[in-house]
Amino acid sequence: MQPSIIDKINTLKAQRNAIILAHYYVNDEIQDIADHIGDSFYLSKIATTAEADVIVFCGVSFMGESAKLLNPGKTVLMPDMSADCAMAHMCDVDKIKYLKEQYDDLAVVCYINSTAELKRYSDVCVTSANALKIVRELPNKNIFFIPDENLGRYVAEKVPDKHFIFNDGFCPIHKNIRREHILKSKQQHPEAIVLAHPECTPDVLELADYIGSTSGIIHYVNDCSSDSFIIATETGVFHQLKKENPDKKFYPACSDQICRDMKLVTLEKIADALEHMHNQVDLAPDILSEANDPLNRMLALAST
Ligand code: 13P
Ligand code: SF4
Repeated sequence: MQPSIIDKINTLKAQRNAIILAHYYVNDEIQDIADHIGDSFYLSKIATTAEADVIVFCGVSFMGESAKLLNPGKTVLMPDMSADCAMAHMCDVDKIKYLKEQYDDLAVVCYINSTAELKRYSDVCVTSANALKIVRELPNKNIFFIPDENLGRYVAEKVPDKHFIFNDGFCPIHKNIRREHILKSKQQHPEAIVLAHPECTPDVLELADYIGSTSGIIHYVNDCSSDSFIIATETGVFHQLKKENPDKKFYPACSDQICRDMKLVTLEKIADALEHMHNQVDLAPDILSEANDPLNRMLALAST
């Protein structure tokens, strides 16, 4: 009998001393075989403590790059090298250099959803789970928040003593979720609690009962006594939400909140990458030595 694809992955994992990390947005069957599943912050922390020689990162390119930056000695494989985050590219280094010349004390705060090249010119990275805490702890008054304008504005509203400069990057998937979708959903499910990711636009966030990262949303539901929820983030989170809360009801905020890049990861591609050790994340030595500082600073500030 032919071994199943999952048996094949498990055999290859043992041979390669590999672990599989998966973001909540990847396909359900990938979440089910992952050694660790989580939001961007949790996965970057796990990447630093993993004993394995090989990390298979089921997510998009900035996640694999971050794992490599934090563990330059390990092999990081991406099942599909073309899985990318559009927002990660929505800023440019010249803009950072220009603003650094304008402000003596500028802190460039870089959402982890960014290229390694952008990280290299940044002072600190943040994720949606720790952005607020980290920005509050920075001594700088002037903050250039890249690339996501929506997360930047969400943080700025809560930290009024700092001066923010925003960049016009956005997540196309979260931008699809509009205020009228939430209003319509609330009409259909008046009892439901609205949970939103801070990448949503401010007029959507205004209608949310809770705003948080993907794991923040999952923890909120686990702890909440209500039994129905409107979810304003990528649909991948529904898998864990339903698994952990089989009796609760979950409604997407709109009909298209799917990150197609995240769905590029398949079981076959994981097996293939492990078998041939291809799709290795490879970063130039100068990027490796400079773009990891803001990530390490994030981990240090988030743990205080
Ligand atoms: P998290 O920080 O919740 O993992 O979100 C990452 C992301 O890509 C959201 O679109
Ligand atoms: Fe990037 Fe948006 Fe996909 Fe998240 S959901 S990986 S921000 S494109």
